[in-house]
Amino acid sequence: MKTILVTGATSGIGLAAAQQIAEEGDRLILVGRNADRLTAAAERVRSAGAGAVDTIECDVASQHSVRALAATVLDSYARIDVLANNAGGFFMGRKESADGIETTFATNHLGGFLLTELLLDRLIDSAPARVVFTSSVMHYGATMDFADLGYTHGYSAQKAYGRSKLANVMYARALSRRLAGTGVTANAFHPGTVATGIWDALPAIVRPVLALGKRMFMTSADEGGRRLTYLAIDPNLVAVTGCYFHNDRVRPPSELARDDTAGDRLCAISAELTGLPTPGA
Ligand SMILES: NC(=O)c1ccc[n+]([C@@H]2O[C@H](COP(=O)([O-])OP(=O)(O)OC[C@H]3O[C@@H](n4cnc5c(N)ncnc54)[C@H](OP(=O)(O)O)[C@@H]3O)[C@@H](O)[C@H]2O)c1
Repeated sequence: MKTILVTGATSGIGLAAAQQIAEEGDRLILVGRNADRLTAAAERVRSAGAGAVDTIECDVASQHSVRALAATVLDSYARIDVLANNAGGFFMGRKESADGIETTFATNHLGGFLLTELLLDRLIDSAPARVVFTSSVMHYGATMDFADLGYTHGYSAQKAYGRSKLANVMYARALSRRLAGTGVTANAFHPGTVATGIWDALPAIVRPVLALGKRMFMTSADEGGRRLTYLAIDPNLVAVTGCYFHNDRVRPPSELARDDTAGDRLCAISAELTGLPTPGA
């Protein structure tokens, strides 16, 4: 039985994927911030056929919370076959996390970065294993200003979100280079424009149009989840690494995402921001 950890597993893409993966009879570790939402998600994943379902509370925007999550996982599970870094959000106003980091960057990139780094040896020991990042087409056109990663100047929700999703692709690629030959893969993907709760962060004035858009134009959570499930468990992808997927196909990510020097710099700064040694140093 495989052990598969999914962050952002209480709703939307993560919950749908967890239910689909459960059909294989695997052990699912569901991660989210809220105990009641986790309990409800676990019931759905259990009834979908999971071999076992565990839940762990964690706020991925808090480094203290991510460290506690990693410690629990390392204490409790001898292997991790798949780590799906899927938790994410969209924030209309600029806020900072308890660690003093802009919330979009802290939630969508640094939390997954820290969790992955802390679990990396266990993933390598579990090879063949996979790390998957839920990124977005919004990474195209995003910038990476290493002097002001958290947009203390010129914040907009779209720009910060795009940057965090660019960081997902850059980190997946940098990780795949470091993990070459270990049997652990790292890939990022765009799940589609998916009708989930993430859109609820948009201003109330656009909600009627949004509700219509969700029904008429957006991909279902099940389909978005299926794209995560594909990367997490499809046997054909066992050796595919360092890629960005869109509609289940490998696509070139943005030019900046393909800049390996910038990718290594992002990893070094992310390590500094999370109190880790420079990766690969
Ligand atoms: N929907 C789209 O069109 C779309 C497109 C491209 C990429 N994505 C990406 O897909 C991923 C999943 O989003 P979704 O669309 O499924 O939205 P969603 O339904 O709002 O789900 C977001 C999930 O992330 C969790 N989460 C958010 N902040 C967290 C935090 N600080 N700590 C721990 N968990 C946290 C939420 O759990 P709790 O609130 O229960 O803690 C929830 O399970 C995100 O990374 C998003 O950027 C979505």
